[in-house]
Amino acid sequence: MKRIKAIYPGSFDPPTNGHLDLIERGSKIFDELIVAILRNPEKAPLFSVADRRNMLEAMTRGFENVSVDTFDGLTVDYALKVEAQAILRGIRAISDYEYELQMALMNRKLHPELETVFMMPAEKYSYLSSRLVREVAQLGGAIDCLVPELVAQKLREKIDVAHKFENRERAASKTSAAEKSRVTKKRSKS
Ligand code: PNS
Repeated sequence: MKRIKAIYPGSFDPPTNGHLDLIERGSKIFDELIVAILRNPEKAPLFSVADRRNMLEAMTRGFENVSVDTFDGLTVDYALKVEAQAILRGIRAISDYEYELQMALMNRKLHPELETVFMMPAEKYSYLSSRLVREVAQLGGAIDCLVPELVAQKLREKIDVAHKFENRERAASKTSAAEKSRVTKKRSKS
């Protein structure tokens, strides 16, 4: 019997409960599913590829037929390399459709044998995106129901470090401004 292998490519910056929902659905219809993180040198991600890989590996530990990998270049080339027959993508709302259709048709043009399979995550995740999770977390909103606990923890750590860095920069620039005004006052007195 033919075994069907699929890849689930994406940025996963960070992985969300919506991604996990899709991975679970994909793991039920494909014999093997590879979650493939794009290494994109043009984007400045919040999490390094290594961090995203660690998070996804921890999140998918319970699925026997799911593995995590990274790739660069064309998704279709990666799919060919790992001998996958399908690309799994999630569609949350009509707004996703146009971009996903364009991508699926371009991938079909590049490699006609490869099928794109769209799945819908649970409705409760239909508004969820990595971009919104990053924004809510950075602005201090609650993210607990949006991402697995280990991702929430990593986000909190990352944002704490960023705030500490910002505060240190602010304190350093205040000190240097105070120092400048002290020197100016001293010069004008002498
Ligand atoms: O999670 P994302 O950011 O929506 O994932 C987009 C991704 C990684 C699937 C897409 O950008 C992609 O496939 N990039 C690899 C380069 C490529 O194959 N480009 C042509 C796509 S038609």
